Amino acid sequence: MTGGAGYIGSHVCKALAEAGAQPVCLDTLEKGHEWAVRWGPLEIGDIGDGRFVEEVFLRHRPKVVIHLAGYIEVGESVTQPEKYMQNNAGKSRVLIGAAVRHGVQAFVFSSTCAVYGLPQTEQLAETHRLAPINPYASSKANVERALEAAAWQGLRSASLRYFNASGADAGGLIGEAHEPETHLIPLAIDAALGRRPSLVVHGSDYPTADGSCVRDYVHVTDLADAHLRAVGWLLALGGRSGRHEVFNLGSGTGYSVREVVDCVGRLTGRPVPHVFGARRPGDSPRLVGSIDKARSALGWTPARGLETQIEDALRWRRAMAV
Ligand SMILES: NC(=O)c1ccc[n+]([C@@H]2O[C@H](COP(=O)([O-])OP(=O)(O)OC[C@H]3O[C@@H](n4cnc5c(N)ncnc54)[C@H](O)[C@@H]3O)[C@@H](O)[C@H]2O)c1
Repeated sequence: MTGGAGYIGSHVCKALAEAGAQPVCLDTLEKGHEWAVRWGPLEIGDIGDGRFVEEVFLRHRPKVVIHLAGYIEVGESVTQPEKYMQNNAGKSRVLIGAAVRHGVQAFVFSSTCAVYGLPQTEQLAETHRLAPINPYASSKANVERALEAAAWQGLRSASLRYFNASGADAGGLIGEAHEPETHLIPLAIDAALGRRPSLVVHGSDYPTADGSCVRDYVHVTDLADAHLRAVGWLLALGGRSGRHEVFNLGSGTGYSVREVVDCVGRLTGRPVPHVFGARRPGDSPRLVGSIDKARSALGWTPARGLETQIEDALRWRRAMAV
């Protein structure tokens, strides 16, 4: 579990442990948290450090690799593209190489809906062209290509294109704790709770119904469940040949930034103070996924809608030390 100390990774670790597996987290802790590693050992180090990765593979002999480690900020990637290409794309090659050498049977990768760029259709299917409009998305598309190539060496992998992850585990031990936080729901909650002066909505003149960006939100617990299903699907493939498959993980429904802000206001009981700012470079006006493929191949259906995501995020944020 690379990036297992991070937001999504810690939720995947919990789901793995509940399913009887022992997740080994490999994380630099640059962005993740030691407190979030509760379901298995932690190996502190970098996926780009070949010697360290080799030692970890020899020590734990993983049958499965789930690769979530990476930098995640679209805005930062626009100003520091090399940082993203190096950490997300370049270093992933080291990990993929080790997975191939050690005969890993299933490799699952955290990709993103951002790889689609500007949508040509209302709902994005996996067959939609890939045309990243920011370096973060380019770095993720690059790893997908590397996995496609590694299939020729026998690696079986799945790239999971997440839409917007949100919410928190119902147990209350883990949740979203990015630093800096750039995601809409936690920022809107913090503004409603008076923990930040106001929320900046980036862009009000997009070609959408209300002028703000439209996104597809998926609960982190549903995302975690999809990882287990993807691992099971890869392990069940049988045969000796490699394969790389992609799956969208979203909800299939789009909400505008204004709609999310209204919903946070309703659920907190306090209107979210917000101001409209300029568009943010690298943002697509609309990213909403078709999840038919994950439904049919993985038997996955997201069970928790936007309100549950916001309620769970709210509970987690209220409990978080300020
Ligand atoms: N949060 C979302 O909505 C979303 C959407 C699409 C894709 N993703 C992808 O999902 C993954 C996890 O996202 P998250 O929100 O949990 O982010 P996060 O920042 O909470 O977790 C990422 C983790 O990776 C670790 N890391 C980064 N570079 C590393 C390296 N070189 N070696 C070892 N560890 C390293 C960080 O320390 C951190 O713990 C990322 O790859 C991200 O691109 C997230």
